[in-house]
Amino acid sequence: MSTRSYPPNPVPPVALVGDSMHAPCADGTERPYLSMDAAASTAALPQVAARVAEFIPWYSSVHRGAGYKSQVSTSAYEGARSAALAFAGRPVSSPGDDVAIICRNTTEALNHLAYRLRLAPGDVVVTTVAEHHANLLPWSRAATCRYVECGGDGTFGADDVAAALCQRPSPGLLAITGASNITGWMPPLAEIIAAAHDRGVPVAVDAAQLAPHRPLPAEADFLAWSGHKMYAPFGAGILLGPRRAFADGDPFLAGGGAVDLVDLDEVLWTAPPEREEAGSPNVIGAVALHAAINTLTGIGWPGQQQDAFIRMQFDAQTRHYRESFPDATYSVICVDGEPAGRLIVHHARDRILIVDIALLPQFRHAGIGSALIRRLLEQADAGHLPVRCHVLYDSTARRFWEQAGFAAHGSDGVYVAMERSPQARPP
Ligand SMILES: Cc1ncc(COP(=O)(O)O)c(C=O)c1O
Repeated sequence: MSTRSYPPNPVPPVALVGDSMHAPCADGTERPYLSMDAAASTAALPQVAARVAEFIPWYSSVHRGAGYKSQVSTSAYEGARSAALAFAGRPVSSPGDDVAIICRNTTEALNHLAYRLRLAPGDVVVTTVAEHHANLLPWSRAATCRYVECGGDGTFGADDVAAALCQRPSPGLLAITGASNITGWMPPLAEIIAAAHDRGVPVAVDAAQLAPHRPLPAEADFLAWSGHKMYAPFGAGILLGPRRAFADGDPFLAGGGAVDLVDLDEVLWTAPPEREEAGSPNVIGAVALHAAINTLTGIGWPGQQQDAFIRMQFDAQTRHYRESFPDATYSVICVDGEPAGRLIVHHARDRILIVDIALLPQFRHAGIGSALIRRLLEQADAGHLPVRCHVLYDSTARRFWEQAGFAAHGSDGVYVAMERSPQARPP
């Protein structure tokens, strides 16, 4: 692994809506706005914005009207549902065993699932310490969680998961991330899902960070993901799972659209997926998600083209950073001569401030994350400076960073300030 200065940007960027915006700065000037939050929410693809603009004149009620526009809207909504199933590698031509429930986002999808699985406090859910809060809190509220720990590099293996699955009492579910929101590391899902299925344990995959970058695991029993992280920021997400899991019992939300018959003292719930979608659905969000699915699928799976697409955004972003922070130090971390990640550090008078750490997805495993941190600490040592890093990480991320030699301060919410810990050293 080596570092080198960044070459002039040779690749034209893939445009996203809003790329050319300028934002007012503290010094009174306006500079190109740099979104550092793509893992939190992505800007819209132009294809998504165009499809939404095309659809809006046809917007009407879904499943609730006989008029032409209502039919157009219903068909667009159901088209998005089919596209979500296909995107997840599920058959759509004949009504398959799986249903795609259109909801707001991953958080809602996982809460919805935790409710629908009718977990009791004595039930065990195996999950990992690398999860986002959205894939921890719904389970710990409803059941007893058993956690797979990470090693010092922030990863775990299929054997570690299998060991947790084998402990007594036997778990009723494995809830696991498809890609870590902290490091971008992708657990070996195929192996892990096979290990769970061998032991009769169904698997729910939090695919919030996976869906924009890699094919979804067709073997997972349940999947949850968000449109706003895959260039469709109009408030739709997906909960996908076997029809039978939603066929009986009360739905998560009670209300119109989820029923076949209502009397003052009786209700007959309709079949899934409508049973799980009470209230007027977010058809514009669904249309946006469908357009993003089409665009990403058109770019191509697996990996290479997607990575080229992300690489172009990465290069464009780096160029913008250079314009906006001309005094900062730019390092590109290379693996076998290939740029793998970027570290941008701004030296203030009495400290160094991380402006940005980013890794290209195909290199996102914790070993490189640790190398970036090591490089940062070398810079700090050279200048005898403390490190202070303001990042949008939560308490799960804090655990990872602490293992890497940082002490975290601040609340468990968003911005956590981290300083280098005098005791701990990076791996
Ligand atoms: C891995 C992971 N899971 C779940 C979520 C929650 O997603 P949402 O805010 O769309 O519900 C996020 C958001 O950052 C995430 O990164």
